Amino acid sequence: MQDATEEMGFVSTQELRAMEQSNATTQVVLKQNVVSANDNKSAEEKKNTLTVTDNRTGKQYTLPIFANTVDGNDVFKIKAPTGAGLRTYDPGYLNTCSTRSKICFIDGAKGILRYRGYPIEQLAEKSTFLEVAFLLVHGELPTAQQASYFNNRVMRHTYIHEELKKMMRSFRYDAHPMGMVMSTVSAMGTFHPEANPSLAGQDCYKDISLRNKQVHRALGTMSTMAAYAYRHRIGRPFVDPSNSENYAENFLYMLDRLNHKNFKPHPRLARALDVLFILHADHEQNASTAAMRHLTSTGVDVYSCLGGSVAALYGPRHGGANEAVVRMLEEIGDISNIPAFIEGVKNKTRRLMGFGHRVYKNYDPRARIIRTIAEEVFSILGKEPLIEVAVELERIALSDKYFIDRKLYPNVDFYSGLIYKAMGFPTDYFPVLFTIPRTAGWLAHWYEFIDDKDNRIVRPFQIYEGYGARDYVAENVRAKAPQVTAEIGSASSAESKRRSAGKDE
Ligand SMILES: CC(C)(COP(=O)(O)OP(=O)(O)OC[C@H]1O[C@@H](n2cnc3c(N)ncnc32)[C@H](O)[C@@H]1OP(=O)(O)O)[C@@H](O)C(=O)NCCC(=O)NCCS
Repeated sequence: MQDATEEMGFVSTQELRAMEQSNATTQVVLKQNVVSANDNKSAEEKKNTLTVTDNRTGKQYTLPIFANTVDGNDVFKIKAPTGAGLRTYDPGYLNTCSTRSKICFIDGAKGILRYRGYPIEQLAEKSTFLEVAFLLVHGELPTAQQASYFNNRVMRHTYIHEELKKMMRSFRYDAHPMGMVMSTVSAMGTFHPEANPSLAGQDCYKDISLRNKQVHRALGTMSTMAAYAYRHRIGRPFVDPSNSENYAENFLYMLDRLNHKNFKPHPRLARALDVLFILHADHEQNASTAAMRHLTSTGVDVYSCLGGSVAALYGPRHGGANEAVVRMLEEIGDISNIPAFIEGVKNKTRRLMGFGHRVYKNYDPRARIIRTIAEEVFSILGKEPLIEVAVELERIALSDKYFIDRKLYPNVDFYSGLIYKAMGFPTDYFPVLFTIPRTAGWLAHWYEFIDDKDNRIVRPFQIYEGYGARDYVAENVRAKAPQVTAEIGSASSAESKRRSAGKDE
């Protein structure tokens, strides 16, 4: 039987290299050409191809298979009778590899996650977030000297410009923290013209030291912007970064320091947060990372790219699920209500948030680690009462045929929201706690994409289903355009009605 890894289309870097070598010279060709071209090839190499017949023309094509993938450009060589090349249609990229990458490996069938080859379990136990950030961006764990340099550079780039602080202060008191972080990181690009390809030259990021500086600065300032978004919401003054070498500790310091002389966050809470940061640092081509690569392909500056990625993560389908889990658990409220809730899930009137994953068809390895962090945090701050509902919900779901048949297991979001709640974070702040560490992953993919030999502007095609050419229609004979409605009332609609009721004399 085929290995499950291969079955799912996931290959290790070594396997990828071996396959690259074996396929380096193969091309898509008409079958009669293949026969002669393949005469000198080994039986193994010949096997690594796909032969298809286009029934519109009767022609047969042989396409090389590379890493269990066919190249879309080879598919294009299959021609319709009109001469148009065949395209693939895949909204949501359900079956499309958009890039080659060496950063993150996931085997969803087996529940495996590795950064640069290192199992997530080992990194969570032995590493630190900044070490993992270095590993993701630079490909290897740092030596002691490299670690000290990297930590120092990141922690010395935690201050943000005073004008940016002013900008953050100008948000409404109830602005969503993700909106604040997204806008502020985008605005950062305007403060660093030397790192803006539009001003400093399209190839400016080929200069490795300039590129590395943006990594240090983006990582350092992201935690500060995140902390300031929190402080702004609760009406407290911004706290300058501490001189700590520890990333999570400094973040907690900026969140919590009041009039203390020498404030030190709880070291075990800082470690718990650091491990959560490790677990959230990268997850290959998720929507926000794909957005990072997409934007990078246009050549725009790294801060605008990060702003776009934060926007993608802000979406409730992506970074907002942990918040939804907490709301769901609050609604269930008590263990006695679980059976009725599960019935609702099975008859599709409800969804069990924090369960199921596009890639994992097994226990998400991060969820397992997060359960242990939850215990650690509860031992310091007291038990979050909803944990009992969560544990029982998991137990019932994992023994129910509906969930077993569909391979639905807890994902990373099932327990993380409860930890954030126990730590006192407001629910709309949860995606920010995801944004801080994922910045490391985004930067790693940005870094890799700049050096990618296949680096082209990302520009998909479409299947056009609109009108054919038609003549301009005069206004008096036009049909009404559909979907044009009166605007729905906003919060100030009563106020505007009152104003309209008045007179301008
Ligand atoms: C993550 C998620 C969007 C993946 O979606 P997907 O890969 O498109 O999976 P599908 O929606 O095709 O699900 C396959 C089947 O499982 C069911 N299913 C998937 N997740 C489910 C959930 N959380 N609760 C109940 N049923 C679920 C679907 O209804 C579908 O059932 P069907 O075959 O009877 O139609 C989905 O599992 C989900 O919505 N989970 C809850 C939200 C969440 O926790 N998101 C965070 C992800 S890290």
